Order: sequence, then structure tokens, then C-alpha cells
Amino acid sequence: MPIPEQFLEELNARTDIVDIVSNYVTLTKKGNRYWGLCPFHSEKTPSFSVSPDRQMYYCFGCHKGGGAVQFTMELEGVSFPDAVGILAQRVGLQVPETKGDSDSRKRRERLYQLNRDTARWYHENLVQPEARHALNYFTDRGLSRRTITNFGLGYAWDEWDGLIKEMGKRGYTKQELLDAGLVVKNDKGRIYDRFRGRVMFPIIDLRGNVIGFGGRVLDNSTPKYLNSPDTIIFNKSKNLFALNLARKSKQGRIILTEGYMDTIALHQAGFDCAVASLGTSLTEDHARMIAQRTQEVVISYDSDSAGVNAAQRAIQLLNKTGIKVKVLKVTGAKDPDEFIKKYGPAAFQKLIDGSENHVEFRLLQVKNKYDLTADDQKVACIQELANVIARLPGAAEREVYGNRMAVDLGISADTMRREIDRSQKRQLRRGEKQQTRRVLQPVQMNQPEARALRYDNMRSGKAEEGVISLLMNDPDLLSQTAGLSPEDFTVPLFGRVYEQIWTRWSEGRPVSIHTLGQDLSGEEMNHLVSILQSPISQENREWAMQDYINIIQTESLKGIRRSDVDDGALMAFRDKKHMEDAT
Ligand code: UTP
Ligand code: MN
Repeated sequence: MPIPEQFLEELNARTDIVDIVSNYVTLTKKGNRYWGLCPFHSEKTPSFSVSPDRQMYYCFGCHKGGGAVQFTMELEGVSFPDAVGILAQRVGLQVPETKGDSDSRKRRERLYQLNRDTARWYHENLVQPEARHALNYFTDRGLSRRTITNFGLGYAWDEWDGLIKEMGKRGYTKQELLDAGLVVKNDKGRIYDRFRGRVMFPIIDLRGNVIGFGGRVLDNSTPKYLNSPDTIIFNKSKNLFALNLARKSKQGRIILTEGYMDTIALHQAGFDCAVASLGTSLTEDHARMIAQRTQEVVISYDSDSAGVNAAQRAIQLLNKTGIKVKVLKVTGAKDPDEFIKKYGPAAFQKLIDGSENHVEFRLLQVKNKYDLTADDQKVACIQELANVIARLPGAAEREVYGNRMAVDLGISADTMRREIDRSQKRQLRRGEKQQTRRVLQPVQMNQPEARALRYDNMRSGKAEEGVISLLMNDPDLLSQTAGLSPEDFTVPLFGRVYEQIWTRWSEGRPVSIHTLGQDLSGEEMNHLVSILQSPISQENREWAMQDYINIIQTESLKGIRRSDVDDGALMAFRDKKHMEDAT
């Protein structure tokens, strides 16, 4: 349920984005904007700007933008309503609750409570004499009582309805048990406990709520681990096991593992910065959550080929965030848990200290693929290595790794450098082609939410940007747009925004990105703010508006769907030009 707009307007009036951003970013005033280092990507020169007059931020480097609410959402990793809550609290406002809102909040609260009661019950089971074997399982694996308590580990009885009965007694309904993913319904409509005869690992979010569970068998049966399904309070791709503990670590890094037991063993050994993804491969959200909390991540996956492949993927995602990525080579053991047990914490610390940066890891991966005693394989290997090195951003890096690989493969440094140069030119040409394509299609089509940003007709699309930009600046210009209807817009996002501006304006309500915010996705907001960066000349607004409308209507009449390469190229330079204008 949306938050009443009047409230958002009130909040907006009492909030200064410069204040909010200043808590995180050092800002310097230049012209009519403030500038600082972007908190969302890593950079050395400031491309992050805040406009106090429009109460907006925009990064010319990573193209993120929005108002105070979006900034809070992005930085704290919270939802729109939660961000509004945080900002409201700051200025002493109470977010009004709509009925649907409080209903869904109550439902979530019930599930949190149910999960917490369940976790407690599982944990208490562990000390029952009948669960001796489960407790033994943990202690045999080297876990101390203290670790078991710290992680709230537990045991689910080997019964079909143990939990159903227990939670029933406490007043939880079957539907609530289903909603929490704690029970399963069979074909005949009967329900039974999801976790039976398993040792249990509660999954706790950053606010301390139990949101789900993992359960492991005590023998070799399958599936080895069973996890809660995604529910209204549990999303595997947005949560990491033990991040609630690791966020408090003072070790200055996060160690990323594959498993519950790896993470727990590491914590017990003193590495309180370990986390695990929850039986899924790392996602972009995970990577962002990690990058928000640390400057260095050490990937410590299993040493088998599945682990190595997963590490490759994780490296790519984590690299995009700009934090330092290291890969730990666990030798002599299949995973970190086994390693610690065999060699002890000091040996693990040594592994971390000597861990390869991702370039070394990648180069080693490539070398291992080839049989270097065969000439043709050696040539192919050199070329692949050159491709990897050519992609490194720094000339010094390319030289250092190029030389090292030349030595390793027994060729001259000169030859290696030529191979790298050639590969670089090839990639550059390919990159240029891709860039043209990207410009014509500003976002990937396969993301469902991105469809709203599609530019099918570049000429009309640019004119639509102009209209929206003018209207956001001065909604009174709407008096000129009679005859322009939302259907004339070719970019779905702009059609929607146009309609919303129109509605608000005709009801005499203010138009700002703050009130539009809750109807737009993050992508859409970034894009909208990016087009609002162009300075608007105050003299020719009416003329400009008329021009844009003419273009949109002509294109709409033509009804053609084509892309114009020249306009596309202009778009690529847009940000650069405006950056100069703005300073
Ligand atoms: P592993 O098979 O590497 O297990 O799975 P592990 O962590 O070494 O477990 P132990 O040491 O045998 O107890 C790694 C992770 O993959 C998920 C779990 O999250 C596990 O921690 N997984 C594994 C599942 O979700 N289901 C499975 O059946 C197996
Ligand atoms: Mn293991």
C-alpha cells in the first residue's frame, strides 16, 4: 500500500538532501551543485553531485540518481517504506499507516515471531536426552557449546507433525506455518513438517529477525541440506548467512564461503567476518551488500571444480562493485571447515595473507586448462592469457603480469607484450561496436523491469526526455501540452511519468521526484534523474516544448519503429557535456 503523498510532501519539505548525503559523503560546493566521491561505486575523482535546488543527487560515473528516499534506500539497502521511515524518524514525523499496510506488516510480524519461536524450540530440543545424537553431531564436528548457542543451532525431531503440534499449541495457524515455509502440503492436501530429523541452522537478517532455516541430515542421506523456500520475509538472493554477525567484525574484510558449516567453523576459529550464500550462487544483490560493508572480500570456496567455477562467477560480480577481491586457495582440504580442523586458525590466516588477488587466480586458471608441453596448446594458452591481461585497467599491471607470464611460458617479454597489444586493439574494436548497440538500447531487454525504459524510436525518445525534463522543472508548462497524450510516448516510462505529472498538476498537488518515487523502480528512477541533469535554458522553454511536442506527434503519426544512430551517438556524449555545463 502506498504511503500518502501528502505525507511524502511534508517529509520532503523538512528534509534537506545535502544534510542526508553529508552524513556519508564529504561534499564540496562548486557552482550550484555539491560534489563528492560516489558512495555507490569506487572512484578517485568526484563525479557524484547533489543539487540542493532540486533536492536530487546524480552520479555521472555510475548513473545512479534520485532524492533523499532513494539515497537512503540504496545506502542502507532498505525498501521504499523503510527508507521513508528512517527519514521520518530523523525529523520527528510519524509515518501514517494505511489499512493494507498495517495488515501486511502484521502478517510479516507474525511470521517473524513464528520463526523465532520455532528457532527457540529447535534450540531447546538439542538439550533433551532424546536429541543426544544431534548434539553429538555438532560436537563431533568440533563445535563448542558456545558456538552452538551463538548461532542458535538446533534440532528438528524426526516426526511428521512435531512442529505443527508445538506451534499449534502456541496459537499459530496452519496457514501461517505454510506461509513461513515451515511445513509442506502434499497432493492430498495434508500438511507435515518440512524439517524432520535434521540439525537446524537459523538464518537471521540484519535486524535480528529469524527469516528462514537450513537443516542438515545427520547421516549420508539426501538431500544433505534442506533450506526454507523464499517467503514474504525470506529472499535467498538478498540475504547472506551470518552477515548479522560479520557486519560487527573489526577485521576489515568479509570472508565469503559456500556453506553454513564453513562459516560457523571460521567464526569459532576467530574469523568473525565470515558469511555464506544460502545454497545459491552469489547474486548482484549479495555483491552489493558486501561492498557496502567492507573494502575487501576474500572468496573462500570449496577446492573442487564446482567451487572454482562458482568463485569465477563471484569474482566477476564482486569486481563490478570496485572493492578489492582476493581468492583463497585452500589446499590439502576440501573446504575451509576441513582446513581449519586439519591445520588450525594460524594456517588459515597465512592463507589469507598469501591469498592471490583475482588476477593471479584467473591466470592460473587459464594456465591449468592447457597442456603446455604441446606447442599448439601453448600458443592458444599465450593468446588466452594475453586476452586476460589486455583487459586489466592499469599499464603497470599489464606489464607486470605480462612479464611474469612470459617467464612462466618461456617466451620473450617483447613477444608477450605484442600479443597483449593486439588483443587490446581487438577488444577495443569490439567494445566500440557494443557501445553503439548499447546506446541504441539503453538497457538490457531481458530484464522485465527494464522494459519500461526501452527506446524504440530514438528521435521521439529524445523529445520525450525533453518534455519530461521541462515539466519536472515547471509543471505549469502543461498548459502547452494540450493534445499530447500519454499514448503518444514511445518510451513507456515517460508515458507513465507524463500521466502522473498531469494528474498531480490538475489536482493542484506538487510535482517532484519524491512523490513519483514510490511508483518507479530503482532503474527507472536512475534513468529519470539522469535526464533531469541537463540544464534548462529559461528563455526558450516554450519554444523548446513546442518543438518536442511536434517531434513526438510527427513520430507518433509515422508510427515507425526505428533507431537513429546519430541521435544515439549524441546520447553517449550527453553525460559528459552536462558535467561541463553543470560545473
Ligand atoms: P556442501 O555440499 O559443500 O556442504 O554445500 P558443506 O558446507 O561442506 O556441508 P558439510 O560440511 O557436509 O556439512 C555447501 C552449501 O550448499 C548448500 C548449503 O547451503 C551448504 O552449506 N546445499 C548443499 C544445499 O542447499 N543443499 C544440499 O543438498 C547441499
Ligand atoms: Mn563441509
